[in-house]
Amino acid sequence: MSQASLIHAYTHQGFVQQPDVFSSAQLGRLQAAVDRIASSKYPGHVREAHGKTFRAFHGCHLYDEVFASVVRAEPLVRFAQALLQDEVYVHQLKVNTKRAQFGESWPWHQDFIFWHHHDDMPTDRVTNVMIHLDDVDDDNGPVGFIPESHQWGCLSDETLVRGDSGWEGNVSNDLTYQLNQPLIDRLVDTYGIVHATGPAGTAWWFSGNTCHASSANLSGRERKVLIITYNAVSNAPGRLGPNFGTRPEFLCARDFSPLVSERF
Ligand code: SIN
Ligand code: MN
Repeated sequence: MSQASLIHAYTHQGFVQQPDVFSSAQLGRLQAAVDRIASSKYPGHVREAHGKTFRAFHGCHLYDEVFASVVRAEPLVRFAQALLQDEVYVHQLKVNTKRAQFGESWPWHQDFIFWHHHDDMPTDRVTNVMIHLDDVDDDNGPVGFIPESHQWGCLSDETLVRGDSGWEGNVSNDLTYQLNQPLIDRLVDTYGIVHATGPAGTAWWFSGNTCHASSANLSGRERKVLIITYNAVSNAPGRLGPNFGTRPEFLCARDFSPLVSERF
């Protein structure tokens, strides 16, 4: 698909698949970096509620050179710039590990509401790319997107706020902002759900207002995905806003310098 067709599909559906973004050699470098990170202590490491396994590693691009380089990878930066019509920087990066048998779910939610309320990001001129680091199929907990749901905007009035449990509540499986069941029933009846499956190396771009969720991983196969959130430089939070900087840097960037793309 041409870049124009990908952008057209993204604009209409709120997400689009970009196959084969990375070669197996590039995926091997990312996998080795994840293994290295998992065996060291960093502040953005989060465990599942049961404590047995890691749920996510946040902000790896702030301390690991492989992740610092992948966020600058030419096909990613170019596409994010084209989508957002601006220079871009990374607001957030995480590897969601969803371990075989122990990886927990993500309830229905939108992402932008977190960045708006917690980080003072002004508008939804922001995008995510999710890159599969493992093969993802229907059994190991793929993300499910509701097509066209982003066109409903930020659904604050349809969102249940689960109390303030600090930044951990923004990344646990009892998320702070969850979409209510009657709304999700209505959206799914109307638009259905698309499961973001595909082999390792597949990329899925999705908007900050696309409704999404994923189930637990009861399969015997891990489901690791890398999610990079690119924000338009002109949509950076005001540094004097009441909330900006209250969350750790691994959830809310402090550096808004435009990324210069490079070969990864
Ligand atoms: C997310 O909603 O940010 C992550 C969902 C997942 O890893 O399945
Ligand atoms: Mn999300």
